[in-house]
Amino acid sequence: MSCVPTALILHKPVSHMNGLLRSQTILSRNIVQGSSSRFTRINRAISRAFQNAAPTPRSPPLVFAFDIDGVLIRGSRVLPAAKRALAMLEGDNPMRVKIPYILITNGGGSSEEDRCLRLTKQLGFDIKPTQFIQAHTILKSIVEEYAETPVLVLGGKYDMVRRVAKGYGFQKAYTTLDVHAWNPSVWPFHELSDAERATTQHVDFATTPISAIFVFHDPRNWSLDVQVICDVIQSGGVIGGPYIPVSEQLKERKIDLVFCNPDLVWRGEFERPRLGQGAFREAFQAVYKALTGTTYPYVQHGKPTESTYKFAQKVLSDRLQELLGHRPQNIPQVYMVGDNPESDIAGANAAKWSSILVRTGVYDPSFGPSPHTPTYEAEDVEEAVKWAINREMSKS
Ligand code: G3P
Ligand code: MG
Repeated sequence: MSCVPTALILHKPVSHMNGLLRSQTILSRNIVQGSSSRFTRINRAISRAFQNAAPTPRSPPLVFAFDIDGVLIRGSRVLPAAKRALAMLEGDNPMRVKIPYILITNGGGSSEEDRCLRLTKQLGFDIKPTQFIQAHTILKSIVEEYAETPVLVLGGKYDMVRRVAKGYGFQKAYTTLDVHAWNPSVWPFHELSDAERATTQHVDFATTPISAIFVFHDPRNWSLDVQVICDVIQSGGVIGGPYIPVSEQLKERKIDLVFCNPDLVWRGEFERPRLGQGAFREAFQAVYKALTGTTYPYVQHGKPTESTYKFAQKVLSDRLQELLGHRPQNIPQVYMVGDNPESDIAGANAAKWSSILVRTGVYDPSFGPSPHTPTYEAEDVEEAVKWAINREMSKS
């Protein structure tokens, strides 16, 4: 009996299900010439290996990009469909492959590493920083230009965004709480709490000109923050310094103003959508216009901006390389699952991704159709994932 090929086949790591199938056929042909009980034993061994073989990373026919608030989580609550959806992507699907996915949120306020640890705990699946994008992650790609210059970072709790900014490489990142600690009369209607004061840095803003303002996350004290942004812009960077003419203020790159999240509203725990960073931007612009007669030019990142979707495309390609061991020539069909037509659907459509709008967040069909037409509308993220997998399976 010519069994040599058998032994080789068994020990050789089989890379593809097809590979396994092929070896099984070769083996059974070889063995038929020998004793049947041995055939059954080996056959059983191979099919056991077949069954136990973890889904192997082969170039998947599709990949997902998930929004977080209103899709996977609402406030502190994990949506039940989220765990079922992620289980499907981990291999529990008709294709028996792991389907890669990334998370893209307009949220933020802590480091990617910290947020991934929290998400891993909440969702019960390992979420890595290499598959995670939050509103300000894109600032990592522009930090070099501002590394040494004093900048103002806004949003989030206490000095969390300063720590995030430092982690990105912003070495002189100051908060509006620092400004208030420096001179409380900047905004006399607020008194720093002990907790706030404990996070402030001692800075003399009369001699520390600010060159740029980054709104990382949703501001907690709109009035203080609007006041300080106006102070920086109207005084050409030196808070409390003489005002410069509006035409000077508006000069290109005088003071860069960057917003990371354009969401007017988002969905948290409360029954109705909540005001987001985009609403803060509108509030600032309304005050600035009332003061100067014009709005202030700014850079916008976050979904649906092209910059964020281009950044996400790169993160997806890197993630596929990480999983597959090689960079696929083309990224498979991307399915964006989101609850906000203005950010998730509009951005995905513009990026030529497939878009799935769910009804567990901002979007409420009782107010009429979505202003941005999704590829598909689903009750929740689980239905969205099932629909996309079936669609790709029916294609292939
Ligand atoms: O502040 C976060 C909010 O604007 C939306 O977050 O996850 O729905 O993009 P997300
Ligand atoms: Mg959302």
